[in-house]
Amino acid sequence: MSPKVVAVDGPAGAGKSTASQALARRLGFTHVDTGAMYRAVGVLARERGLDLDDDEALGRLVGGLSFELGEGERLLVGGRDLSAAIREAEAGELASRVAVRPVVRTRLVPLQRGLAAPGGVVMEGRDIGTVVFPDAPAKLYLTAAPAERARRRAVELRARGEAVDEAAMARKLAERDRRDSQRAHSPLRPAEDAVVLDTTTLALEAVVDEMERIARGRLRLLRP
Ligand code: DC
Repeated sequence: MSPKVVAVDGPAGAGKSTASQALARRLGFTHVDTGAMYRAVGVLARERGLDLDDDEALGRLVGGLSFELGEGERLLVGGRDLSAAIREAEAGELASRVAVRPVVRTRLVPLQRGLAAPGGVVMEGRDIGTVVFPDAPAKLYLTAAPAERARRRAVELRARGEAVDEAAMARKLAERDRRDSQRAHSPLRPAEDAVVLDTTTLALEAVVDEMERIARGRLRLLRP
């Protein structure tokens, strides 16, 4: 039997994280944010002063890493809590840069597959429906207009006390979209059997309702 996986992919700022967490709660599944893993690799690479284009050094770094999901969405890497560091704006940039390196992806993808809990998982990222779980029974691709995604990211960062220049944020998001979707290895794109949801004008509740309807239908889960 294929594992109970709901794959959620899409560009930065499309609302994947908040909606995936809420969906996992409704379904009683675990939630795995694979972006957090790429962010952790980026943060550690910077901390160690690595050249982000140096595959050998990146290979040594990721080869020795172990990831653990702690209570309340905490991410422990080698026992160290990186939850706060990976949420800084720069971590997203670093993540997007290390994520183009096959040496990083080939290490993280099997770890992600290993996180498919028997009780079901909502896993979000860029390549979950295309590469990590191509046989996932339920695949969603969340997207939104670039200006709206930039606005959401700005709100998120301001809530964390970071100063935000919205125009610069929009430019960076466009650059990240380009890098994520044009890379040779596992580019961001909807799987052929994914349901594409444009969340530009939708409230979170409506997005999660629609995701739940699709996930329950595809996984043949009854409503509680
Ligand atoms: O979802 P996020 O913003 O936390 O992701 C950070 C970066 O990590 C994103 O720009 C691309 C990369 N990423 C990826 O390549 N594949 C994934 N499955 C998840 C994230």
